[in-house]
Amino acid sequence: MITCQRHLFDIPEGVTWLNCAQHSPASNGVYEAGLLGLERKRHPWTLSAEQYHGEVERLRRTFARLVGARADDVALVPAASYGLAIAAGNLELPAGGRVLVLADQFPSNVFAWRDLAARRGGEVVTVARPEDADWTLAIEDALDERTAIVAIPQFHWMDGGRIDVRRLAPQVRALGAALVLDLSQSLGAVPTDLPEIGPDFAVAVGYKWLLGPYRFAFLYAAPHRQDGEPLEQAWSSRASSQDTSRLTDYSDAMAAGARRYDVGERGDYLAVPMAQAALDQILDWNVAEIQDSVAPLVAEVAAQAHARDIAVIPEPHRAPHFIGLRLRCPPPRDLPLRLGAEGIYISLRGETLRVSPHLYNDKADIARLFEALDRHLQP
Ligand SMILES: Cc1ncc(COP(=O)(O)O)c(C=O)c1O
Repeated sequence: MITCQRHLFDIPEGVTWLNCAQHSPASNGVYEAGLLGLERKRHPWTLSAEQYHGEVERLRRTFARLVGARADDVALVPAASYGLAIAAGNLELPAGGRVLVLADQFPSNVFAWRDLAARRGGEVVTVARPEDADWTLAIEDALDERTAIVAIPQFHWMDGGRIDVRRLAPQVRALGAALVLDLSQSLGAVPTDLPEIGPDFAVAVGYKWLLGPYRFAFLYAAPHRQDGEPLEQAWSSRASSQDTSRLTDYSDAMAAGARRYDVGERGDYLAVPMAQAALDQILDWNVAEIQDSVAPLVAEVAAQAHARDIAVIPEPHRAPHFIGLRLRCPPPRDLPLRLGAEGIYISLRGETLRVSPHLYNDKADIARLFEALDRHLQP
């Protein structure tokens, strides 16, 4: 168990940040790395080409280590929507074929498929929220020979409802369908071995559980998906891009593996060191340890909710690292704002209050949240 790590962050007394599912605070180390990036812009003569390429590759390797993959399987992209657009652009959807998504799934992982379905004469099928909270079974029931793509998360972003992607993956494969995972709400907080699960593509934003900067995300492409079309024709995604003296040879050969999908200007010398510092910290803590250390905080939220007749998703169908509170009556829309005015931060997603702690929180933060909820929700 990792003890509270608040000392590694600049979180003032009086701030209770229970909103990692929205944005993580930058640790002091990530902040310092960002300052280093700013310094490079101020003094560009301090940045060498070797550094520029070397840091990008180091980051790719570090992310690969986090998900049990090879550096060749990883592309650096700016957003989940960007990675999902690459997935949608490289998967087959025959006329009449179906893309499965979940009810109230995050829009980046819906719009890409609506667009693809409209262009190919396919259909987006939404799996309804199951009464018994068992998303995995609900998805299994929806799979059939018309299924061409299953585009899902590992935990529902609104309330942490769990989807057993390891159980689903072989069933999806057996249908000849593709599996696309949006892991923005889990990578960094839940141990994940992507080659073992075997999605075709998986994406995760960097600014939540990966503790890094905004506008920086990672795309995993399985080995058999590494010869597809990128979204752009970036010079830096060409095999010869490291030799800047020969860029105008206009070589058609693409960089190895998933690098062809990298966004242009991937070597952002401000964001790359920040993302590196964040992933180094996560690996140093160890993802399984992070999960085991955050889970008791979530269990405490669940216990406090039970004591007040507030519904939460039951075990084993909920995430270990965040949780949704469903009140008997929908909460006032301005409740997060009112709590924020007291220095307590959570999110309202749909009608669910989402509470998402990390290692900078402790049980006193949970007590503070419920003391405030009791006051604000008094009849
Ligand atoms: C599940 C999930 N996916 C993706 C995102 C962000 O998507 P994008 O990078 O396309 O803005 C979020 C942000 O809240 C999210 O919760």
